[in-house]
Amino acid sequence: MQNKDIILTADRPTGRLHLGHYVGSLKRRVELQNSGLYDKIFVMIADDQALTDNADNPGKIRENIINVVLDYLSVGLDPAKTTICVQSALPALHALSFYYLNLVTTARLSRNPTVKSEIQMRGFADEGLPAGFFTYPVSQTADITAFDATVVPVGEDQLPMLEQAREIVEKFNRIYGETLVLPKAMIPENATQRRLPGVDGKAKMSKSLGNCIYLSDTPKTVKQQINGKMFTDPQHLRIEDPGHIEGNVVFTYLDAFCTDDHFSRYLPDYANLDEMKAHYMRGGLGDGTCKKFLIQVLEETLQPIRENRARWAQDIDTVYDILKAGTDKARETTNATLQRVEKAMRIDYFADRNVIKEWKDVVKSQNQ
Ligand code: TRP
Repeated sequence: MQNKDIILTADRPTGRLHLGHYVGSLKRRVELQNSGLYDKIFVMIADDQALTDNADNPGKIRENIINVVLDYLSVGLDPAKTTICVQSALPALHALSFYYLNLVTTARLSRNPTVKSEIQMRGFADEGLPAGFFTYPVSQTADITAFDATVVPVGEDQLPMLEQAREIVEKFNRIYGETLVLPKAMIPENATQRRLPGVDGKAKMSKSLGNCIYLSDTPKTVKQQINGKMFTDPQHLRIEDPGHIEGNVVFTYLDAFCTDDHFSRYLPDYANLDEMKAHYMRGGLGDGTCKKFLIQVLEETLQPIRENRARWAQDIDTVYDILKAGTDKARETTNATLQRVEKAMRIDYFADRNVIKEWKDVVKSQNQ
């Protein structure tokens, strides 16, 4: 079956990727990549978008590009199947953004709920809002359309971006003729994938909160985060006390990561997670045992990733070449879209010498 679907997805290179990224998107990307169902898959490191709220700190973005590529390769993104590229080296995206900016109103941008809450979080409401940050949904529309992406796997928080992209595409096509492909969002299937909380139970893993488990963390750090910081049930003081599952981060993580096989390997007292939860709720199952099991479960995911990362880290020259080759390929694709767009907008003056005759006629008719 030949499917015409093209995937684009991207990350801002503001830090190393963590388990939240893994369950929420990286794992899915590798599955999509290996499904054979997609024509082309592009994964972009959105350094320009990262600069929209980090203009004074380009060094941070620069150093995290290599971190993010290493994370991609370590989880199993395969450059033979997935094109990995860097946004700033794709000038067609800048040109497209500039044209699309004319197709949205500032009022519409102000209503974007994700941007609204990000403005609050970053304190831009008081400090002044960078115009580039305010308009990044438009730049993201350029990203999506430049690759002719039909499917855009993103977290739920990105749905307003996709909605805005679709509006811009529809408006463009209405004004200039059918040119751009209408994209669809693909969001994670279940709630645990949608948002893995930080080890402290806060809604999101974030570097500033120190509540992350990074894909590149050592086994020792993972252990410290779980044994030292992971939130359980504050009412579960003694092992015999009945415990609560809801809001208990150990169980949220087990929901996201553990399978029946893990029980036969590490905790054969139970056949599955339901049995383990039942015991915890009855009382008699200690947090220490639960955490130890969780560490074993997580290590099954983390250890191979860590080993891959260590191997790639020995060969940054090759990683650089992979990124460059992917970016070169992406540049061809995005330049072709820009040409199509400029043609549709009739601003392709130097691609089409017919304009000379047209201009001669314009001038002639004025002289009559
Ligand atoms: N805004 C996205 C995020 O923070 C990153 C991103 C940039 C993106 N360009 C994109 C996602 C294009 C999908 C498609 O996660």
